[in-house]
Amino acid sequence: MPNEEHSVRIEPHGRTLKVAPGEAVLHAALAAGLNLPHSCKSGHCSSCRARLVAGEIDYPNGRPPGITAEEAADGQLLLCQARARSDLTVEARLIAGVADVEIKTLPCRIARLTPLAPDVLQVMLRLPAVERLRFHPGQYLDVLLEEGRRRSFSIASPPHDAELLELHVRRVAGGGFTERLFGAGAAALAPGSLLRIEGPMGQFSYRHGTGPTIMVAGGTGFAPLKSMLRHVLETGLTRTIHFYWGARHAADLYEEARVLGWTRRHPQLTFTAVLSEASVAAAPHHRTGWVHDAVIADHPDLSALEVYAAGPPAMIEALRSSFPRHGLPPQRLYFDSFDYAPDALPRR
Ligand SMILES: Cc1cc2nc3c(=O)[nH]c(=O)nc-3n(C[C@H](O)[C@H](O)[C@H](O)COP(=O)(O)OP(=O)(O)OC[C@H]3O[C@@H](n4cnc5c(N)ncnc54)[C@H](O)[C@@H]3O)c2cc1C
Ligand code: FES
Repeated sequence: MPNEEHSVRIEPHGRTLKVAPGEAVLHAALAAGLNLPHSCKSGHCSSCRARLVAGEIDYPNGRPPGITAEEAADGQLLLCQARARSDLTVEARLIAGVADVEIKTLPCRIARLTPLAPDVLQVMLRLPAVERLRFHPGQYLDVLLEEGRRRSFSIASPPHDAELLELHVRRVAGGGFTERLFGAGAAALAPGSLLRIEGPMGQFSYRHGTGPTIMVAGGTGFAPLKSMLRHVLETGLTRTIHFYWGARHAADLYEEARVLGWTRRHPQLTFTAVLSEASVAAAPHHRTGWVHDAVIADHPDLSALEVYAAGPPAMIEALRSSFPRHGLPPQRLYFDSFDYAPDALPRR
């Protein structure tokens, strides 16, 4: 029944969880420290797809866009949206590497707020002296707000430099949390303010290898890629990486000088900035247009590559639909889709 707590058995992990009435199965799993595959948490990206082995589910807002009617009829479900109507058994994907890190809930203080661009802030968080957050480069954390709401932000610092956790936060007009960081309203946040965070979360993380790699950021999608790039550049780069950064205008490439400095010191790293609302390229490494088109123009055969991508849902969708047509095996496209939090979506 929809108004009762139910048990959910997650295979092949062999874990059984309690799911509260109205609670998404993924939410219950993450709260229990089980880092199941996911990204957007809003029913769009399909990363949390699993198989319903036994029991009955429903979706609060109807079948989500990330699953087709045929897939649903075939017993597949999206764990970030599915609510249990009975006890369930589901078979989720296992992702090696990130399942081993412990998800913690920790207090932290805002140590510094530094404007990086007109609508982007660098937020530095200080954990209590006795605490450390173990994470993989590319993972994100949730800022916990009142009434169970939470907001996701990728960690931009690499694991070896985790004394302060770095976030890059884009201001969302009318956004309940990001506007407070930009000083709006009675609940404005400032250096010294206390937050609660939960993390690390997500499967978007760097896989060590030697093959050529492409990284694609859209806007603040630079944050998790900065963590990955600093990780590989500061611990030993063993492959070629072509980094693309898509933005509307040159002013949005808020750490362009840092990236250019990296390319000068590491010839295996190349950088292309792709501006969607500029009519002329103002620098040799600048192009105009959409970032996914620029990647395909440079690499029409993606079959030997690995791609890491993070940024707005529209950019991730464009990559997911176009890159496999150019030979990229879907399992070698690792991504995080920066959707709004699930509680904001119905309001929109
Ligand atoms: C895995 C992941 C990683 C992410 N990493 C980053 C990152 O590194 N950097 C980054 O900048 N972003 C990141 N994001 C996106 C970020 O989480 C969202 O932009 C953020 O949650 C917005 O929070 P908010 O409270 O300010 O906005 P919300 O309050 O959630 O508002 C979102 C939207 O809903 C609208 N809205 C809110 N209330 C109402 C209402 N009552 N009626 C109508 N509309 C309304 C707002 O105007 C706004 O357009 C990430 C997202 C995910 C899923
Ligand atoms: S569809 Fe569930 S995490 Fe994206």
